[in-house]
Amino acid sequence: MSATHGRRPFLGGVSLLLLLAVSCGAAAAVFPESTARAIGRVNQHGPFLGVVVPNAFEMEPLLRSPRFSTAKSRLPPYLDVAGKRFRFGTIGEQKVVIVMTGLGMLNSGVTTQLLLTLFDVKGIVHFGIAGNADPDRQIGDVAVPRYWAHTGLWNWQRYGDGPENELALESNGDYTRKLGNLNFTDYTVANKNGRPARSAGGRSNLLNAVWYQPEEVFPASSGTPESRGHAFWVPVDAHYYDLSRKLEGLELERCIVAAGNGTDTATTTRKRRTCLPRRPAVARVERGCSASVFVDNAAYREFLRSRFRVTPVDMETAAVALVAKQQGKPFIAVRALSDLAGGGAAGSNETGVFAPLAAQNAVTVAVELISLL
Ligand SMILES: *[C@@H]1O[C@H](CO)[C@@H](O)[C@H](O)[C@H]1NC(C)=O
Ligand SMILES: *[C@@H]1O[C@H](CO)[C@@H](O)[C@H](O)[C@H]1NC(C)=O
Ligand SMILES: *[C@@H]1O[C@H](CO)[C@@H](O)[C@H](O)[C@H]1NC(C)=O
Repeated sequence: MSATHGRRPFLGGVSLLLLLAVSCGAAAAVFPESTARAIGRVNQHGPFLGVVVPNAFEMEPLLRSPRFSTAKSRLPPYLDVAGKRFRFGTIGEQKVVIVMTGLGMLNSGVTTQLLLTLFDVKGIVHFGIAGNADPDRQIGDVAVPRYWAHTGLWNWQRYGDGPENELALESNGDYTRKLGNLNFTDYTVANKNGRPARSAGGRSNLLNAVWYQPEEVFPASSGTPESRGHAFWVPVDAHYYDLSRKLEGLELERCIVAAGNGTDTATTTRKRRTCLPRRPAVARVERGCSASVFVDNAAYREFLRSRFRVTPVDMETAAVALVAKQQGKPFIAVRALSDLAGGGAAGSNETGVFAPLAAQNAVTVAVELISLL
C-alpha cells in the first residue's frame, strides 16, 4: 500500500475538507467547491450552537417558534451538504445551526459528525420526543438526563452458556459481562398450569441471553488516532446540566386540541380537546438510553428501568452524545415523554395522541435552554 506517499500534514477538519474539495474538484468530493467556499464564509460568523433534531415533526415547531429567526443578511438561511440541510439563524441572542438527522442511531451519529466536521460549533443541544420508562414521570413531562447510554450493542450468548461462561472474544477486551444481561428465559409466558414453562418442563429459551456492551470510543483529544477506549454512560456537559436547573417550573402544554376524525359529524365540527391528568413539568433525571429499536413492549420497558434506571428511551440521543464526547464538544439533550414505551393499557394510543404535545414541549424547553447557554 502506498497510501503514505500522498499524505499531507493534517490541517484540521474544515480546512482539510476545503483542500480536498478545491484540489480534487466537484466530482471527487462529497460536495462541490462552491459549497466548500460557502462553508468557509459561514464559519467566519461562528461559533454556532449546534441544534440536532431527529425528525421533521420535532423540528417544525422550532422553525415556527417566534423565538427562532432565520439568518438574513450576512449568512445564508441554509446550506445543503451530503443530503442534510443545515439551517442558520438565531434563538434569542444565540447563533444556531439546526440540522435534522432522520430516525435512528446511524443517522444521528453521522449527521452529528458532519455538523462538527463542517461548522464552527461550540456545543450541541439535542431535543425530541421519547418513550418513558419511569413510573414517576407522566406523558408530556420533559426529561433532561445527566447520563446517556447506547443499549443496542450486544453480545448474544450461545445457548447452554450461563453468567459464569466467558463471552466470545471477551478475553481480547472486546466484550464484557459487567453491564448485565437480558435473559430470554425470564420472559417465557406461563403455560396452561399457570407456571412458567421452564419450571414445568425445566426448559430454557434457545435465545438464551444478550449482554449489554459499552461503545468503543476514539477521543480526538487523545492525540493518537485508533487508540480505543470504552464508554457506556456518557455524561452531558456539567455546566449545561447545571444551567438546566433554571428550566424547572417552565410552563408546558397540558392539553392537545385535535381535529375531529372525520367519521363523526359532532367531532369534525367541534374540535376534540384531550388533557393530561396534571400539567407537565421539566424533570432533571439521572439517565436515558437509546438504541435503533422502537420500544413498545412493557416487559422490555420494565427491564430497561430496573437494569439501567432510565427515564427516556429513544432512538438517537446516545449516538449524538457519543460523537460529541469523542470530538470534545459540550452536549446536552432534552426529551419530552410522548408515550409509555409499551407500558400503557392495551390498545392505548398515547404516541398517536400526545406526540404533537410532547414535540411542542420539547421545543419550549430546548428554546429556553438554548438561550441560557
Ligand atoms: C438464563 O436463565 C437460564 C434459566 O434460569 C439459566 O440456565 C441461564 O444460565 C441464564 N443465562 C444467563 C446468561 O443468565
Ligand atoms: C372517531 O370519533 C368517534 C367519536 O369520538 C369515535 O367513536 C370513533 O371511534 C373515532 N374513530 C377513530 C378511527 O378513531
Ligand atoms: C391514534 O391517534 C392518532 C391521533 O389522534 C390517530 O390519527 C390514529 O388513528 C389513532 N390510532 C388508533 C389505532 O386509534
